[in-house]
Amino acid sequence: MTKKNSLGVGVISLGWMGRLHTRSYKAMAELYPELDLELRLVLACDPVLENQQLATDVLGFEKAVSDYHELINDPEVDVISICSPNYLHKEIALAVAKSGKPFWIEKPMGISAQQAAEIAQAVNGKNIITSVGFNYRHTPAIEEARKLISEGKLGTITNVRCWLIADYASSPQGPYTWRYDRSKAGAGVVGDLLSHGSDLVQYVLRDAITSVSATTGTFITERPIPTKMGVGHTGWEVSDEMHPVENEDYVAAIIRTAGGVLGTIESNRVAVGPRAEYQIEVYGTDGSIRWNFEKLNDLEVCIGQDQGTVHGYTRSMANPNYPHFSRFQPGAGTSMGFDDMKAVECFKFLSGVLTGEQIGPSVADGWSAAEIDEAIVKSAQDGKWHNVHQVSGKITFAQ
Ligand SMILES: NC(=O)c1ccc[n+]([C@@H]2O[C@H](COP(=O)([O-])OP(=O)(O)OC[C@H]3O[C@@H](n4cnc5c(N)ncnc54)[C@H](O)[C@@H]3O)[C@@H](O)[C@H]2O)c1
Repeated sequence: MTKKNSLGVGVISLGWMGRLHTRSYKAMAELYPELDLELRLVLACDPVLENQQLATDVLGFEKAVSDYHELINDPEVDVISICSPNYLHKEIALAVAKSGKPFWIEKPMGISAQQAAEIAQAVNGKNIITSVGFNYRHTPAIEEARKLISEGKLGTITNVRCWLIADYASSPQGPYTWRYDRSKAGAGVVGDLLSHGSDLVQYVLRDAITSVSATTGTFITERPIPTKMGVGHTGWEVSDEMHPVENEDYVAAIIRTAGGVLGTIESNRVAVGPRAEYQIEVYGTDGSIRWNFEKLNDLEVCIGQDQGTVHGYTRSMANPNYPHFSRFQPGAGTSMGFDDMKAVECFKFLSGVLTGEQIGPSVADGWSAAEIDEAIVKSAQDGKWHNVHQVSGKITFAQ
């Protein structure tokens, strides 16, 4: 059956995220039929030959190339995913913005606030719809928490705690990938994980982080050099030769928001114990909420000062009344997963492209998170509180 809309997709880089973006595009027709959209996987780009073969032989792309300029200039490519390592974000995003094509870029947007600003400003005034990989925003339980907060159910919000504690880099034998190179990744776990936390705090509270005081550390100071490029955090072949780690394993920051909320954000990539414990807790004068990515379908809620002998948290499981849940599962109690959040992100991006309205996280949100990262790094260097530069553009966290 002919669809009302059709778009050609180009995906740049086919590592962990490029493959996940591709799966998300492929899922749209089934999950969100109202888009009435025929998506063609026109072109993939990756310098690694195996990834090009995977693109055409397994993932379903019509063609694969090694030079991203070719992908951007292909007239059949209408929307572009940028899933490359951080140090390539700026040059690729600026080239895509010049072409005027909508793009979905992974976080952190570049390796510094300066790079993020350049990407955001290249889009300003051009009416280009964008999306940034702040996937935790889209979790149905997080959307529900945000709704409860904006309805005033927790009273006046006083403080927030958010931590992202992972073990992906906990083995000293873990390869020295681009993630540990300051010129390729930026500020280590600050950009990699904490940027998700900053965005989550700003999104859930609809409030901007305005100042920070922080400390950082690197606990595993050298790693073995890989012999060959791999995918994601592990699964890279390594040699016996070691390379110094150039960026942060750990960060802790105290924060203040424009609305007067106080809080802490913390992240560790070398913890032993938690696997991907990404948690946010919001406290108000009449209640609080807690959410942990490791149990992403659960929202813990306590409302009211005194519920008698049963006072405490109610565990609310994601259910068809939560936004987007029923796209994935028909009944409460059946779990959604990480990839599903990316599918929601894809839907918001494509809806934006079709309607001309910025719905998902924008490059202005990506720039905002990068400015928080920058203020944190400066504070860790000089031990002082730093104001966060407030950005311009189509910020969506407060919408
Ligand atoms: N949103 C999230 O939760 C999340 C999770 C993981 C990674 N990320 C982000 O996604 C991005 C990619 O991370 P990843 O884990 O997929 O990395 P990865 O190491 O798995 O993959 C990187 C890919 O980039 C390719 N590449 C290298 N040089 C290139 C070039 N010149 N042109 C095109 N492609 C090139 C590599 O061949 C590889 O396939 C990073 O910015 C990262 O921070 C986001």
